[in-house]
Amino acid sequence: MTENLSSPAPDVPEISRRAFTKYLTFGGIAALIGGLWALRRHFHRGGSSAARVIAQTEDVAVGGSLIFQYPTPNDSCILVRTGENAYVAYSRICTHKGCPVFYDSSQDALECPCHGGLYSITDGSVLQGPPPRPLPRILLEVRGRDIVATGVVRPA
Ligand code: FES
Repeated sequence: MTENLSSPAPDVPEISRRAFTKYLTFGGIAALIGGLWALRRHFHRGGSSAARVIAQTEDVAVGGSLIFQYPTPNDSCILVRTGENAYVAYSRICTHKGCPVFYDSSQDALECPCHGGLYSITDGSVLQGPPPRPLPRILLEVRGRDIVATGVVRPA
């Protein structure tokens, strides 16, 4: 019993090489756009985490810092009191290789001891060293004596 495999089955429509290439191209572009959209959502989350009290105003002196976890118990962050009524907070996870950063008051910057990375206390941007991206910023509100984290802004 032999079958002729060189001709297509009668009920299967033929598709030209050009049409096949066109379908592949459009399918690839659609997959790429979907992937980029998913990545953008992943890295541009801002303000979507639940608000939570992370400290009281008297817990940290002007020029001092405090470590806390936000938005989950596994996300280490650092709060710095930069003035009487001014606070900033960032993720402590260095964007280079993930070492924890510390506040260095002598440089008024966040320092990573692993490879000398240095981040601006003003906006979390990279001042020196190998880190490829700024630190994610923790959004804060002061409500009476409570310092409340209200979200995370991840840099592009
Ligand atoms: S891990 Fe922070 S600079 Fe390398």
